[in-house]
Amino acid sequence: MSSLELFEDAAALSQAAGAEFVALAMAAIAARGRFTVALSGGSTPRRLYEMLATPPLRDAVDWERVEFFWGDERAVPPEHPDSNYGAAAAALLDKIGATPSLVHRMRGEDPDLDRAARDYQLTIARRFGIDVEGPPPALDLILLGMGPDGHTASLFPASPALKEQRRWVVRNRAARLGADRITLTAPILNQGRDIRLLVTGADKAETLKGVLEGPADPERLPVQLIAPTSGCLRWLLDRAAAADLKGGA
Ligand code: 6PG
Repeated sequence: MSSLELFEDAAALSQAAGAEFVALAMAAIAARGRFTVALSGGSTPRRLYEMLATPPLRDAVDWERVEFFWGDERAVPPEHPDSNYGAAAAALLDKIGATPSLVHRMRGEDPDLDRAARDYQLTIARRFGIDVEGPPPALDLILLGMGPDGHTASLFPASPALKEQRRWVVRNRAARLGADRITLTAPILNQGRDIRLLVTGADKAETLKGVLEGPADPERLPVQLIAPTSGCLRWLLDRAAAADLKGGA
């Protein structure tokens, strides 16, 4: 199931995303005793993380039952300004006093990113009590963004990871950036019970029109790979990003 919601601006979008995060967390904890979430990098979710670390949202979640994963990570150590883990730690995890054993960062500092990706898949398998060689688990919530080139997580246009159908976590090449990343792959992303794609900014408008209203072309627009097998995908867009859509802004 997929839906789309339009917001006046990034602040209103973040407010709505925060309310959804809290609602999903409460439901997952009530149903299964924990809430597993994959955080996204980039600038859009930062405001969401800051809102979640601030009353009233902060006090609405039993953070000791929230387990944090990441959708992707740059090839940098956690203290590096580009680290997705570092950004989330500063905006949210450190402020809520997240339980370290429930925070699973990708080791972007590993000189061997293939090993780091394999290790992360092992971490996920252990936390879900499943076979590391088997089908991927269903995380409760996967937060994603979209770059102006149509990438999501670190699934970049024409990159090797787009075709991955077996592994849940791989090293991938961001050719345009001349950098390697670690990223979750479509198989595990599409297992998510709930996927929220947060897209803001006029620089995304043309690409978003191609993604939502153009032909399927995931090699060129990797975010089109996001199609949950049984979960719920919701696009949260601000007016600027939606400006080129039919009936958009
Ligand atoms: C990253 C993210 C990436 C991000 C998009 C959108 O590591 O940068 O995982 O996929 O979501 O680049 O970023 P913005 O939200 O900053 O536009």
